Parts: sequence; structure tokens; C-alpha cells
Amino acid sequence: MSEAVRVEQLEKVFPGGVRAVDKISFNVQEGEAFGFLGPNGAGKTTTVSLLTTLLRPTGGLATVDGIDVTKDPRAVRARIGLVFQESTAEDELTGRENLEISAALYGVGRSDANRRINDLLARMQLTDAAGRFVKTYSGGMRRRLELAAGILHRPKILFLDEPTLGLDPQGRAGLWEYVREIRRETGTTIFLTTHYLDEADQLCDRVAIIDHGKIVAAGTPAELKEKIGGDVVTLVPGEGAPDLTPILGHVAGVLQVQRQDGGYRLKCQRGESVVPAAVEACFSAHIQVASVALKKPSLEEVFLEFTGRAFREDEGPSATDTALRMNQFRQRRR
Ligand SMILES: Nc1ncnc2c1ncn2[C@@H]1O[C@H](COP(=O)(O)OP(=O)(O)OP(=O)(O)O)[C@@H](O)[C@H]1O
Ligand SMILES: [Mg+2]
Repeated sequence: MSEAVRVEQLEKVFPGGVRAVDKISFNVQEGEAFGFLGPNGAGKTTTVSLLTTLLRPTGGLATVDGIDVTKDPRAVRARIGLVFQESTAEDELTGRENLEISAALYGVGRSDANRRINDLLARMQLTDAAGRFVKTYSGGMRRRLELAAGILHRPKILFLDEPTLGLDPQGRAGLWEYVREIRRETGTTIFLTTHYLDEADQLCDRVAIIDHGKIVAAGTPAELKEKIGGDVVTLVPGEGAPDLTPILGHVAGVLQVQRQDGGYRLKCQRGESVVPAAVEACFSAHIQVASVALKKPSLEEVFLEFTGRAFREDEGPSATDTALRMNQFRQRRR
């Protein structure tokens, strides 16, 4: 069995008609780190909830480690670890107590549990804080604790729903290191959702981009960047400039011109030569240039290319009701 996750035409329509997951299909190979990328409300958490048996699909098929999520949810839950989008650690318990509860929930025997808890506390650099109440932890410490809780029972597949949400850049980079280490040492398959494109780029072998419940692009980060065909130069003219589309379209090396946020987005093969040529063309037409920037392809550009929208984080609050899911998860585990 080499497929960790298989999804075919998977669908979730919520009562009331919200089509959160709209007939998506993809596979995750064993040992792979798979990134599921999308903006707020795209359907990431719903997909994770379907795969981890917290929600039932309204159509299609999903298997985890070869097991149909609707036919044998208990067997699926025994094979997976899950770290929720929002903090689920108990504030009024210590770090160690939180891990002890997880061990009990997952049915890890006492002596095994103690050894693993000590090992994980050390690995996550929480040994010194283990006896402190979680309410005194920083955001990064909480996440590390939750990550430890998610892998305590040695799952074959680890689901991480926005593991770095709300962390500062240093905290994010730190968490990436832990995730990499878990992979290196255990070969665990990782299914990660994120709306940070750089995170997927850094951590994942393959990614799928989801938008409005549909997969709009999938492949390795390198493949996706190749699809958008080269560099992007962004040029913003001074105030009151006329439409520069015809001028910029004639600059040597420019393949396509798009207007965007008061500026222009030029697709080209060699951005280094397009930058001076585009500025020169504007000067020749007596047009001021406020700024010009060269971007080598990123997943951000890929998102823009496939959806026509910029990938931003300001689309409103999280669509995900985590407390509800955590309760469901605990109840079902009992
Ligand atoms: N229990 C529910 N009942 C009805 N609609 C829901 C429910 N849960 C989610 N939705 C809707 O389904 C869509 C997808 O939500 P989901 O939580 O999967 O998005 P997401 O990609 O995880 O977003 P975020 O980045 O904000 O966490 C949204 O439109 C959301 O409002
Ligand atoms: Mg979510």
C-alpha cells in the first residue's frame, strides 16, 4: 500500500447548501509531505475534517491508509494524528498533564507513555516548562506541545491544519524544523493545510491549491512555478499616468501585461532585462515610475495565475469552528 490518502470526487455540502468541498480528487503517497493551500473559507478544514472522520462526506470517496473513511472511521482514527487549526491545549493543566491526557485518549500504555512524553518534551524544548500551566506558554510553545500530542501515538499520517497560524516568523520557522525532523526520523506522511505559500514551498513535496471548494492547481511547487512561465515584473507608475498597457506590451521580452492594484504585472522570461527596458519605455513616454520590482516565480504568483485573485490573508475571520470538532473528536475517541 503506497497511497496514504486517496480522494475521488469528494464532496461536502453543509445543511443550508454551502458547498465547502466540491468534488475534489487527489492522492498523497506514503511518506510524502502534501500541502493543501487556500485562502480563508476555501475548504481546507472541511477537507481535513472529512479525512479525519470528524465530518461525513455528502459524496465521493476518501481512503486513509487504504481504509474508507465512511466504512471504518475507528480504524482511520487509530492511524492518524491531528493538530487543529486553533489551540486545543488545556490552559489549566501543565504541559506534561496535557500530554498524559493525549496518551490516555490514544490508548498508549503508561510506561510507554512516560518514556515518549519525556522524549517529546525534550525534542520540543519543553522539558523546563513541562510542569507549568499551559496558560503561561507562548504561542510557539503551545503549538509545539500540540504537535507533540499529535505524534505521541506514532500515527502513520499526521494532519496539520494551519499549524503555524498566528506564530511570528521565528516561531513558524522553528515549527517547520520540528515537522522536518519528525519526517526525517519517522517517515510519517504529512498532510498540511496552510494559507502561507512559502510554508508549502518550504515543507511540501507536492501541493494542491483549493479555492471555493475546488482544486485549481496541483503539482510539485517547482512544477506549479514552471506553469506560470517565468518571472514577473511589477511596475507602478506615478500618479495620473495614462493606460500603459500598450507601451509595456511592446517592451522586448514582455509576454503579457495585466493591470493590478494601480500598477502593472508583466510576465516575462528574463526579468533582469525587462526591468530597465520597461523603465526606459516609460521615461521615453514622459511617464514617471513610482516603483518597479522583479519577482522570481512563487506559489503566490501561481495562485494569482490560477484564480485571478491575489492570495491575501485579509478575507475575514477563520471559517473554522474548532472547538466543536475537538469535542467531537474526543467523544468519538472514547
Ligand atoms: N459546520 C458548517 N456549516 C455550514 N458551513 C460551514 C461549516 N463549516 C464550514 N462551513 C463553510 O464552508 C466553507 C469552507 O470552510 P472551511 O472551514 O473548510 O475553510 P478553510 O479553508 O479551513 O478556511 P480558514 O482558512 O478560514 O480556516 C466556508 O464557506 C465555511 O463558512
Ligand atoms: Mg480552516
